[in-house]
Amino acid sequence: MKNVKDYIRTIPDFPHEGIMFRDVTTLFSDPRGFRMAVDQLVYPYMDVQIDKVIGLEARGFILGGAVAHQLAVGFVPVRKKGKLPGKVISQDYTLEYGEATVEMHDDALKAGERVLIVDDLLATGGTAAAGIKLVERLGAEVVACAFVVDLPELGGRKALASMNIDVHTICE
Ligand code: PRP
Ligand code: ADE
Repeated sequence: MKNVKDYIRTIPDFPHEGIMFRDVTTLFSDPRGFRMAVDQLVYPYMDVQIDKVIGLEARGFILGGAVAHQLAVGFVPVRKKGKLPGKVISQDYTLEYGEATVEMHDDALKAGERVLIVDDLLATGGTAAAGIKLVERLGAEVVACAFVVDLPELGGRKALASMNIDVHTICE
């Protein structure tokens, strides 16, 4: 029987030479693989109070939407700079292959709301840390961050642990 990892392919030298890109499009396009991944992301939070799911652009939108549906809660996007139409708060960050800025609508969360952050992959943790900072700046609480893939050699789990954030991953 195939597991989630078996559906993910590796593309060398994308987007830059030396990067082994873990491509989850092959996981998403398989009905059994996609369902398994979403079920395994959701499982630890079935009996936990979650008020909103946050998805990190872009692959976190695909997973986060499905997770929010399964938990029967609302979904909030964290988007790359300049994409959201309303008033936003912004956060700069670095990742395995560059620097960027993410944004969230400033009225997307209420103080005290408990959120689950979802993305496809944890590398340096820079993207997730930026998402966590946005959530906390609005006074909401990050219950955990959930990812399909962990790249442990890039230290993301340790970086998020140092922010006192629980991390749930499905495979390495
Ligand atoms: C990838 C991935 C995560 C992030 C992980 O997104 O989907 O969001 O990198 O890296 P980090 O842990 O070092 O921050 P990418 O920035 O390539 O954006 P995309 O999903 O819009 O292609
Ligand atoms: N984001 C950061 N590093 C990545 C990698 N190696 N594969 C896919 N997404 C990534």
